[in-house]
Amino acid sequence: MKDYFGYQGKTVVVTGAASGMGKATTEMLVDLGANVYALDWNEVKVEGIKEYVHVDLSQKESIDQVFKALPMHIDSFFGIAGISGSNNDFVTTVTVDLIANKYISETYLIERMKEGGSIAFMTSTGGNGWEREDNKSVYHDLLTADSWESTVKELEKTGFTQLPGTLGYPFAKLAMNYYTILMQATFASKGIRVNSVLPGATDTGMKDEFENMAGGEAALLSNNGYSHTLAKSEEMAYPIVFLNSDMASYISGELLRVDYANTAEQVAGIRKVERVLSLVGIKQMMMGQH
Ligand SMILES: NC(=O)c1ccc[n+]([C@@H]2O[C@H](COP(=O)([O-])OP(=O)(O)OC[C@H]3O[C@@H](n4cnc5c(N)ncnc54)[C@H](O)[C@@H]3O)[C@@H](O)[C@H]2O)c1
Repeated sequence: MKDYFGYQGKTVVVTGAASGMGKATTEMLVDLGANVYALDWNEVKVEGIKEYVHVDLSQKESIDQVFKALPMHIDSFFGIAGISGSNNDFVTTVTVDLIANKYISETYLIERMKEGGSIAFMTSTGGNGWEREDNKSVYHDLLTADSWESTVKELEKTGFTQLPGTLGYPFAKLAMNYYTILMQATFASKGIRVNSVLPGATDTGMKDEFENMAGGEAALLSNNGYSHTLAKSEEMAYPIVFLNSDMASYISGELLRVDYANTAEQVAGIRKVERVLSLVGIKQMMMGQH
């Protein structure tokens, strides 16, 4: 059978490979014949991977150390690791969910990928509304900063860093959705595609934290349109494996919402918009409470 996906013998890097969507993605890529470098804070137990690589994505030094040891040529990158912010402060949450992806892309992927390469991130429908002008104005400068240090400095300038980690999560996901579009322009000049998958609520290692944050399972399920169950990890792995494959060779700058039509119906005006995230509004509200 023809290898339509085109992963056979390719060098791919997956972050967050120890659990949930990242693990499911790693398993599929191994099945499709890729050489998978599986990055995570925790050990990755997937048979057939090329190598498990320990990394702490909240630390620039750890990322630098890891990339010293990774191959000089990478075909596809899957930025899947993330934290909910329930157990971390705002800056750490934004660092893992956003700054690490930005740093890896601009420092290493731009050098190590060539024409035909592909990058895909697991962002979130929690980052819906990223295109609002008031939201973009909050994170535009940090997304266009040119180093790890200046990105952190720009993050501090936003005035958000004292807020709880759980608000770092939507902040990072809003910014990642915008970043996907900004970054595809840079990578397009090298013939490299950049896309994101925006999951609805999914049954992974993060489920309990999201359930607490949402206020129960029913509230969490309201993010999933007509589906009456949470998505399974592999239901997010399928679309991200597709987006980085040869089957998606003309797709770039796509923010693929995988939430059983929840967002689409909100945009169409036939489903109630549960909440419109305005970062400026959130900050004013939070500051008012202190
Ligand atoms: N589960 C959901 O409902 C949901 C919804 C929307 C988006 N997402 C996003 O999906 C992605 C995958 O998460 P998941 O739901 O599979 O959760 P998960 O907790 O099962 O997997 C996350 C993985 O990231 C790793 N990780 C966390 N911090 C790290 C660090 N500092 N360094 C290295 N590795 C680290 C964890 O060890 C874990 O293996 C995340 O970016 C998450 O924000 C999840």
